[in-house]
Amino acid sequence: MTAPKRLPPALLAELLPPGVDCALELLPPAQTPGPVGFAWDEERDEVQSAVPKRQREYAAGRRLAGELLLNAGAKAGPLLTGPDRAPLWPAKYTGSISHCDGLCAAAVARTSDHRSVGIDVEPATPLNPKLWSSILNPSEADRLEVMGERGAMLATAHFSGKEALYKLIAADFGRFVGLLDVELRFSLMKFTFTAHGGANDEERRKLATVQGRWRITGRHVLTTATWS
Ligand SMILES: CC(C)(COP(=O)(O)OP(=O)(O)OC[C@H]1O[C@@H](n2cnc3c(N)ncnc32)[C@H](O)[C@@H]1OP(=O)(O)O)[C@@H](O)C(=O)NCCC(=O)NCCS
Repeated sequence: MTAPKRLPPALLAELLPPGVDCALELLPPAQTPGPVGFAWDEERDEVQSAVPKRQREYAAGRRLAGELLLNAGAKAGPLLTGPDRAPLWPAKYTGSISHCDGLCAAAVARTSDHRSVGIDVEPATPLNPKLWSSILNPSEADRLEVMGERGAMLATAHFSGKEALYKLIAADFGRFVGLLDVELRFSLMKFTFTAHGGANDEERRKLATVQGRWRITGRHVLTTATWS
């Protein structure tokens, strides 16, 4: 079993507010042979019938989140999955996990500081034009279309931002919120985004308090969503 390769967390940490700790790990190529290292049998059981790539990304997310939880003072134990596919964070803690080809990220906070957290990582590739209409609503697409190649990369960042936002709000909203149900407005100067939409006044008010942050590196797009 090859040792996990950690990345300095600064790349993600600078997109998160005080009170959220985070970690990054490089994932091996999909076809890497050899056993997957699980910290807990219960975690292995959750993905034992999954393909090795899925087992590796799941195990990496659990490894990072488990260490962050321990650092934050939580008791050691498996981090299992709830019916909505979100991790069942221990009482008084919250967090978020994301993985894509090559990278896994996790973030953890105390619920006394943040009631939820959303993070997402994606490969830094322009968004396929065929996918634009199922991910971007017309006003987002209009803004990005005129920007050429840069717009296509920012379209990927919009996709990522919406995934991070979903992880932040899903439990709070208690319903599925689709990619086209929200509009993100990016600041290209501040590397932030705001979220707009919602099915009622309460959801609109909550979305207005979301603070989004994004970064595009040579290899990855990273986004975070927190409540400001
Ligand atoms: C849940 C979803 C956001 C996951 O994103 P993804 O890019 O497919 O995958 P990622 O690797 O980034 O994230 C997967 C992790 O998200 C977490 N996750 C899954 N469902 C979740 C939920 N309901 N709430 C919070 N976190 C969740 C899990 O930790 C999962 O990893 P794990 O299974 O190894 O524990 C996505 O599959 C989805 O359903 N999107 C549709 C809804 C949406 O994006 N709406 C946008 C507007 S708000």
